Amino acid sequence: MNKNRKWYTIIAFSALLLIIYVGYFFTDLGRGLETMGENDSQLVDSGRNAETENSQTERTNKLPIPPLLEDKNPEEGKAEFDLNVQYGKKEFIDGQETTTLGYNGDYLGPVIKVDKGDDVKINVDNRLDEPTTVHWHGLEVPGEMDGGPHQVVDPNTSWQPHFTIDQPAATLWYHPHLLHKTGEQVYKGLAGLFYIEDEQSKELDIPKEHGVNDIPLVIQDRRFSENGEMPYDLNMRDVMNGFLGDTVLVNGAIAPELDVKNEVIRLRLLNGSNARSYDFNFSDRSAFHQIASDGGFLEKSIEMNELSLAPAERAEILVDLSEYRVGDEIVLRDGNHEVMKINIAEESTDSSGIPESLVDIVEYDREEVVNTRRFVMSGMGPMVAINDKQMNMDRIDEYLNLNELEEWIISNDSAGMGMMGETPHPFHVHGVQFQVIERNGGEPPLNEQGWKDTVMVESGEEVRILAKFKQKGLFMYHCHILEHEDAGMMGQFLVE
Ligand code: C2O
Ligand code: CU
Ligand code: CU
Repeated sequence: MNKNRKWYTIIAFSALLLIIYVGYFFTDLGRGLETMGENDSQLVDSGRNAETENSQTERTNKLPIPPLLEDKNPEEGKAEFDLNVQYGKKEFIDGQETTTLGYNGDYLGPVIKVDKGDDVKINVDNRLDEPTTVHWHGLEVPGEMDGGPHQVVDPNTSWQPHFTIDQPAATLWYHPHLLHKTGEQVYKGLAGLFYIEDEQSKELDIPKEHGVNDIPLVIQDRRFSENGEMPYDLNMRDVMNGFLGDTVLVNGAIAPELDVKNEVIRLRLLNGSNARSYDFNFSDRSAFHQIASDGGFLEKSIEMNELSLAPAERAEILVDLSEYRVGDEIVLRDGNHEVMKINIAEESTDSSGIPESLVDIVEYDREEVVNTRRFVMSGMGPMVAINDKQMNMDRIDEYLNLNELEEWIISNDSAGMGMMGETPHPFHVHGVQFQVIERNGGEPPLNEQGWKDTVMVESGEEVRILAKFKQKGLFMYHCHILEHEDAGMMGQFLVE
């Protein structure tokens, strides 16, 4: 496209947006105002939250802990799991039933935990009356096992992916990836955690007791209707920027409470939201240590007071509660908004430490780069694109060679699109854990210097990554704002 045409397109597009936006505003003013209020990028403390707090005085709202999924294969080095995709009903709000989707339950899924080196088999049984897929986000497995939009599981059929775990300990996750339907299926409840353990994760002096001091936290934002339903109805803002809810859920609970001992606890945070990013901190601004990023442990633990997570990103943090007394509480927050309460409920007898050095990460050598590719993310709403293209199942966008080092330059060109603001795009690559080597020409922040599979690229930013693809097959790269992905902000690459 030449420069002038590009500008005409941008101006025409902005004008179109303005018309749609104004039209939307006036035709549906009442509802529009209501939803817009709810939708402000800063969460508002809605009446609903207040309500929940009141009812908590009678009924405590304990943080639900997703169970570890039973491994059906007793053989050492092998693991087999059953995962049923099903409809559910769940009471998020007292006295109101919500229609949901879940894996082996009403909402979200169990934690699948495997060891490095395991041969894993999973029986995915689709009990819905619509197709779905199950994608293993962050796993390095062959293309046919990846669970992307090509591995459709039709209603009342099953899919048996199998693979060998060949990557370090990490907190990964799984979720649907059906073309144009990912946003809706994830929103209704389809998501779960996938842990890999290895010798190092077992040896490190860190908390390891699931649900006791090693706590999974799936953070999502949702919008409930008057009758407690959770309809996936996109308003104009959602179409543009991705779905933003007004109520934050942790493991499917609104403003829950977690009881722990006064010791070091480990929180495994997954931003499982469709579009919202979070800035996590604690109410007393106390420091904590990040020990892992998307794809595994960092080399050294990093002390911080605030942690940002874009959609699909994970982080493991250690929080030292040894200075607190039984009866104290701290609040995990997003900015100024309460996400979850942590009650110091019991005296600890034996706390783990906060190791300073964790694992060795061998840095890729930039001199060995064989291929450099550019990925320019642009547009908003239905116009989102990567390299000016939208997802086409019949078109392979990039061809890669197995085990060759690649440098990818990922930029976000969504600036200047007018009053709708600038859109951030978290870029995700399937089948690989990569290393971020540059952010806007400089060194990336310390907590991006470990293994990553998703990297936030704000409007106007440029990020460079190095990646070596060790699995063959067809994979996706895309924006992990699910409404953008569903609108076509995705491409395919073939590794051979
Ligand atoms: Cu979290 Cu393409 O996926
Ligand atoms: Cu993925
Ligand atoms: Cu995006």
